[in-house]
Amino acid sequence: MIVNDFGARVGQRVLLSARGVSKYFGNAKDNILVLDNVGLDLHDGEFVALLGPSGSGKSTFLRILAGLIQPSSGEIFADGAPLRGTNPQVAMVFQSFALYPWLTVLQNVELGLLATRVSTEDRRERSLRATDMIGLDGSADDYPKELSGGMKQRVGFARALVVEPEVLLMDEPFSALDVLTAENLRHEMLELWRERKIPTRAILMVTHNIAEAVGMADRLLVFGANPGRIRAELPGLPFDARGRRDGAQTNLVDTVYLIMTNPNEDVARLLPGARSVQEPVPSQPYQVLPHLSIDDLTGFLERLQRLGGREDLYKAAHELQMSADELLPLAEAADILGMGDVEQGDVLLTETGQRFATADVLERKEIFRNQALANVALIRQIKGELEAAPDHRISEETFRTRLERSFSPEEARRQLDTAIDWGRYGELFAFDDNAGELFLEEG
Ligand SMILES: Nc1ncnc2c1ncn2[C@@H]1O[C@H](COP(=O)(O)OP(=O)(O)O)[C@@H](O)[C@H]1O
Ligand SMILES: [Mg+2]
Repeated sequence: MIVNDFGARVGQRVLLSARGVSKYFGNAKDNILVLDNVGLDLHDGEFVALLGPSGSGKSTFLRILAGLIQPSSGEIFADGAPLRGTNPQVAMVFQSFALYPWLTVLQNVELGLLATRVSTEDRRERSLRATDMIGLDGSADDYPKELSGGMKQRVGFARALVVEPEVLLMDEPFSALDVLTAENLRHEMLELWRERKIPTRAILMVTHNIAEAVGMADRLLVFGANPGRIRAELPGLPFDARGRRDGAQTNLVDTVYLIMTNPNEDVARLLPGARSVQEPVPSQPYQVLPHLSIDDLTGFLERLQRLGGREDLYKAAHELQMSADELLPLAEAADILGMGDVEQGDVLLTETGQRFATADVLERKEIFRNQALANVALIRQIKGELEAAPDHRISEETFRTRLERSFSPEEARRQLDTAIDWGRYGELFAFDDNAGELFLEEG
């Protein structure tokens, strides 16, 4: 584990901890391991950000920490005591909030206190305070439909803060908001937290936005997927350095990028001097394809070529007018296909990638076909089985059912959709929408 340079505020007291937490979903026959032996100590005074690819079990982990669901093995400790049931010291903010349309803003906030024993007057008073604090004072009597997205999310925050929780768990709280609204709310939250205007003593925030994590947190955790585990732990920037676009900030963003764009690499090998927290599972049984259309991928490769075929990740995101999270899956797809790579904080095209970016339509298809066959296991497998099948047709469901042994149904569908999309582009196989069958075209 990387030794952490905690800020001065961070005390030794551990408010919430997870010990050897594993979680399976599914039935007795087909179990999917979603979290594998995850451990975490959340200290008094600490703001921890949790990053990781979609489906890596981040939300599941938060729900286990809140006591909303039980781990399959391992245990949660709240203030040192084993947690039984939901954790009264914890409140959660979700990406989008289910606000009750027939209740006013204030009444929606009051719902946060439903489970606690407070008098009606107390409930009202505390809710008014939370509503004021979060900038909703003018809207207490409004109904949700009258609110903008940003205001709705403020209700979400107020509903969590009215509990005066010791620990605040936030699951992508800013990601459904437009850029400016998110920036605003982020800033206000940080101020409430730093100036101790809220009694909250520790925050754990899930985000897929690297810059957001680096700009806010004292400590960063990076989850890996299949199964979900902590791949890396990194100290955050010192308070004063956060949010500045200077060297320290760029370096840390690059480092996290590097880890996330190399999902199957041992972190210790990526970063000299670092030790990985949980070793990668030896030999992944399957790849995880980013869900990207060929158009997006082609566009990315072309634009990267125009930038000279190699660019600092942070600058590339800026030049291509993409957020870090948009660039990440593109770099990953290019890497899987052997057309790109991420190296020392740079994103670059391989020689094949450069050939692809400058080729005409037909050449492109051929390059893509070869790269996909050589590098994408699922596409190779589909192609091989179609060749072996008597009529060269196999139902989509056959492949999907098999993928469901390794992925959730939803993810299995997306993996197959991506493979079909890529395979069709490379003219490796075709898809019959009506019959729901994959087939090989004549000739
Ligand atoms: N209640 C559930 N039943 C079955 N599978 C689930 C359930 N909740 C989540 N999963 C699966 O567990 C995996 C992790 O999900 P989640 O915790 O939401 O990941 P993240 O928040 O990192 O995107 C996914 O494959 C998801 O489909
Ligand atoms: Mg989630």
